[in-house]
Amino acid sequence: MAFELPALPYAHDALADLGMSKETLEFHHDIHHKAYVDNGNKLIDGTEWADKSLEEIIKGTYNAGAVAQNGIFNNASQHWNHNQFWEMMGPKGAAMPSELEARIVDAFGSVEQFKTDFAAAGAGQFGSGWCWLVVDTDGTLKVTKTENGVNPLCFNQTALLGCDVWEHSYYIDFRNKRPVYLTNFLDKLVNWENVAERLSNA
Ligand SMILES: [Fe+2]
Repeated sequence: MAFELPALPYAHDALADLGMSKETLEFHHDIHHKAYVDNGNKLIDGTEWADKSLEEIIKGTYNAGAVAQNGIFNNASQHWNHNQFWEMMGPKGAAMPSELEARIVDAFGSVEQFKTDFAAAGAGQFGSGWCWLVVDTDGTLKVTKTENGVNPLCFNQTALLGCDVWEHSYYIDFRNKRPVYLTNFLDKLVNWENVAERLSNA
């Protein structure tokens, strides 16, 4: 199926007071995400992937040894990643639902320890990529990091939370301070109700 750029679930300036500016979202969503959509559509046109779902394309084209050379995978996975990323943030600043909090405390010892581990995964990803909170195949919650556009679908994990650590995600607002961007993301930008909903659907 052709990729489509979704509208942001909030206004471009809705996160500005929380550390993600209108300019960042204009570049990130309107230009970078759109480029993954447009390039992906050009690459799948006329191929066996043209009528497959986005998830089928990602799983079917993932090749751990050749991610850098794999245009269809890269654009499809980055399209999916950004679809999730926009939904995982929000302007409301809602508290973490208690069931999610209990699972996080069970897995990491405390919410603070989870945030420390998640931020460390994002800061420690060399070059472009993502850090994630996932439900692993054994049902446990884990923090992971992935290179470039690789995402939890590649490992049959369920993504509960993901943070984009490509420079295009933070350079306008935080320059080179990726760790500060990550801490701000966790403390102000995450829509924990969306994360909890993903956990209950996992
Ligand atoms: Fe991005």
